[in-house]
Amino acid sequence: MPQLLGIEWIDIFSSVERKITYLGMVAHSIYTYPVGNMVLVAPLFWLFPFHWFFLILLYTAWVYYDRDTPSKGGYGLDFIRKWRVNRWNADYFPARVHKTADLDPEKNYILAYHPHGIISMGGWVNFASNGSGVMDMYPGITFNLCTLGLNFKIPIRREILLLFGCIDCSKESIEYVLCPKTNKGRAIVLVVGGAAESLDAHPGKHELTLLSRKGFIREALLTGAQLVPVYSFGENDVFEQAANPPGSRLRKWQDTLRKSMGMSLPIVKGRGYLQYSFGFLPLRRPINTVIGAPIHVEKMENPTKERIDELHEEYVKKLTELFEKYKGQFGVKKDVKLVLK
Ligand SMILES: *[C@@H]1O[C@H](CO)[C@@H](O)[C@H](O)[C@H]1NC(C)=O
Repeated sequence: MPQLLGIEWIDIFSSVERKITYLGMVAHSIYTYPVGNMVLVAPLFWLFPFHWFFLILLYTAWVYYDRDTPSKGGYGLDFIRKWRVNRWNADYFPARVHKTADLDPEKNYILAYHPHGIISMGGWVNFASNGSGVMDMYPGITFNLCTLGLNFKIPIRREILLLFGCIDCSKESIEYVLCPKTNKGRAIVLVVGGAAESLDAHPGKHELTLLSRKGFIREALLTGAQLVPVYSFGENDVFEQAANPPGSRLRKWQDTLRKSMGMSLPIVKGRGYLQYSFGFLPLRRPINTVIGAPIHVEKMENPTKERIDELHEEYVKKLTELFEKYKGQFGVKKDVKLVLK
């Protein structure tokens, strides 16, 4: 890789395969990064220079009409999720899904995804698209990746996320999709650790915000959805993050921001479009997402605290076992343990 002016540039003579997977990653940045979304809509304004006001009016009316969709199951389109470009994006890292058990299409599921990483890259590649072939691995199962409602408030971004099958992560939304009377074969993917966990997303680290997170357990009991632990090895490796150990000034500032605004601001360094020295694009490092076996959950009208705690304990045990069983296969050293907080 050529070095010039202290910057490591991309190699334009790389293999065709490398170029194609690079394009997959670039495509991903266009449809999921806010700046990329602007690139997508800019041509419309250029094509219809005199009608932009009308376009905005029309779009605003659409958003108003469509406002409840994110919490009513969304409208994921399989043909978009199956696009070849998603496969290229998966091959870039490469990102892979590893199945350990069948999921019965007669039941519903909550897949709890860990760790959050910076942007849950593996969550997107593996569950919002067929990038790693998940659609064929689990016949009869429809996956919906859950994300913050705020994402559906951003113009254009909301439609893109919906087309990829994303739904709101609110209780109402989850209970709507997992309602056993109306749906079966649905699997929602919840990134349980959320914003808090992203501040611990450092390469090689396996720290989860899980002990205090019990909402997903309660939802499983309420809806009778089976709980599936999912651990994504490498999720924390695709971005570097500025050191922010608990107690540091940076961390204190980040925690204040998180508590007041509900979002985290990790200081990240990935790569750029043309160089590897800085930027917000993900690094070419493997992501291996292991989907565990479902834990049986019996539906319960009013889940008691005891039952929630008991199931949470069982869940943590199963997740830890999954991590221990597969860590060696995916590059984690023997003495590295899952850190839970
Ligand atoms: C999903 O991806 C896998 C792996 O690339 C591919 O073999 C399969 O045909 C895809 N499925 C669909 C329905 O497109």
